[in-house]
Amino acid sequence: MTDSTKESTKEFTLERDCELRFEIESKTQIIVELKSGFAELYGTELVKAKKYTFIQGAKVAIFSYQGCVLVIKGTPDVCYIARETPMIQYLNTHSAIEQMREKADERGTTGPVTLVVGPTDVGKSTLCRILLNYAVRLGHRPIYADIDVGQGSISIPGTICSLLIERPAHIEEGFSQLAPLVIHFGHKAPDFNNELYKICVSTLADITMERLKEDKRTQSSGVIINTCGWVKGQGYQHLLHATKAFKAGIILVLDQERLYNELLRDVDSSVKVVFLPKSGGVVERSQQARAESRDFRIREYFYGSRSPLYPHSIDIKWADMKVYKIGAPSLPDSCMPLGMKAADNMTKPWPIQPGPQLLHHILALSFAENVEQDVLKKNIWGFVCVTNVDVERQTITVLSPQPRPLPNTVMLLSELQFIDSH
Ligand SMILES: Nc1ncnc2c1ncn2[C@@H]1O[C@H](COP(=O)(O)OP(=O)(O)OP(=O)(O)O)[C@@H](O)[C@H]1O
Ligand SMILES: [Mg+2]
Repeated sequence: MTDSTKESTKEFTLERDCELRFEIESKTQIIVELKSGFAELYGTELVKAKKYTFIQGAKVAIFSYQGCVLVIKGTPDVCYIARETPMIQYLNTHSAIEQMREKADERGTTGPVTLVVGPTDVGKSTLCRILLNYAVRLGHRPIYADIDVGQGSISIPGTICSLLIERPAHIEEGFSQLAPLVIHFGHKAPDFNNELYKICVSTLADITMERLKEDKRTQSSGVIINTCGWVKGQGYQHLLHATKAFKAGIILVLDQERLYNELLRDVDSSVKVVFLPKSGGVVERSQQARAESRDFRIREYFYGSRSPLYPHSIDIKWADMKVYKIGAPSLPDSCMPLGMKAADNMTKPWPIQPGPQLLHHILALSFAENVEQDVLKKNIWGFVCVTNVDVERQTITVLSPQPRPLPNTVMLLSELQFIDSH
């Protein structure tokens, strides 16, 4: 506990439909306790008298529908009570989705598939979390799909994923990440390879929608899909593609009326397009903060955050590795083998000779055992990070969450790097 935590303890009384917002930029801890009343953090209820610890980087809003008293120990860098919030509109949206779940349950059909879209920093990920939490609190088991390759909240950057949500998000750590379905893309933004991105989204949608049918309760609970903030040009085309791939019936558009109108014009009339305001509390993040958050997520994958993990260091002979990169640098059509288009070039696995160029790169271990099995249609078993390349011994050393042996599979090279400073 830092000195500032010992120094300052403050009580905040929240009236109905108000929220306490705070941000921690410095290296300090803030401890929050609900003293009386009811309160929730992005849809997860706070337990009375339990101490919740928030650390550097936290951007928090604790909302109360009924009013409450909160005790805050420590001094956040920003801290205020907001009376204007869109929470009632978000709750109404949840109620409308809930009615569709009930109907789906009665009829034994697939529940609502909802896409959350909007420009960067409007609270898309937060709204997904709120809607998922409200769903599980009513006994549903929805699937959360995240197709944001840069700032996604499941697995590591460079992937798109889906996850079955069985219980509310942990107040400090978010949703439990047991057994996510992970698809490798390998870049931090879709525009590095738009063709490949589309295939990845279709694959994730196909497998996710298939899994949805495995459990009756999940099927009627439906899917909530988080997207990235690239909403212009090709980014917009990706949103249309995702709508079709997941057969979304609802699109929630945060903040941007232009995007809302474009979608109203372009999607099938059976899709409900709903405009929602963004919360004034959503904090903008700089490019640097985004890069740091990507790095943090990879570190967390190998080393954990609150509960530490102890990864293994494993040597692998080059001769025992099958490394591929999906998509080669684009060539004009005239340079491609007969019948092949330059766009095909961007979605083919290309063998990579192991060597120093792999240093610090993330390698995704595919469920495909060989490249003949369509690697683009397979999900990911896990990731390793190359921490050393020994040219003389022709080996690489990787950081791995699992001890050896690694499964004998295809490794897919990611553009994302992680410098292991442990
Ligand atoms: N009501 C709120 N009060 C304070 N902070 C908030 C509130 N809602 C969201 N935030 C914070 O604002 C930040 C950005 O929100 P969020 O990640 O949901 O936006 P986003 O639209 O998904 O961003 P991106 O475009 O990067 O995906 C997060 O750190 C989140 O915790
Ligand atoms: Mg987001």
